Amino acid sequence: MAGNRTFTMIKPGAVKNGHIGAILAHINKGGFKIVALKMTQLSKQKAGEFYAVHKERPFYGELVDFMSSGPIIAAILEKDNAVEDFRTLIGATNPSEAAEGTIRALYATSIGENAVHGSDSDENAAIEGNFHFAATEMC
Ligand code: RTP
Ligand code: MG
Repeated sequence: MAGNRTFTMIKPGAVKNGHIGAILAHINKGGFKIVALKMTQLSKQKAGEFYAVHKERPFYGELVDFMSSGPIIAAILEKDNAVEDFRTLIGATNPSEAAEGTIRALYATSIGENAVHGSDSDENAAIEGNFHFAATEMC
């Protein structure tokens, strides 16, 4: 059975461009309940750890630099079938391929600066949530 939680970050570009409120409203309208939330800035080391799965990819250095370049919003979201439904809500990795009305279509500026992260499996959702939040910060 699909899990009911996923993890997201509003990435530095979307924070800088003033989209925090609109993106959180979009997430709520999509039927997700926010069960953990914080604003923080990742060090290069933390950003590198978070995206370690992409270490060998050509865009890894750029991704780590970008993700540590300014504040982010981290959140844990709850809904039935959360991981898959949230990936649908945010749209494709490349905003030029993201479906109309999705968060990335509305707020991303490029494939690298694509507004939001969304976990890709129930297992990674739990790992990523625990990476950013203590148990006492999850409601
Ligand atoms: P995310 O993990 O952030 O939710 O994104 P995703 O699953 O849709 O895409 P993924 O393949 O996991 O890539 C992670 C992030 O790396 C950046 N990226 N840049 N320049 C490029 O070709 C490129 N490809 C990926 C994006 O910020 C992507 O979200
Ligand atoms: Mg991914």
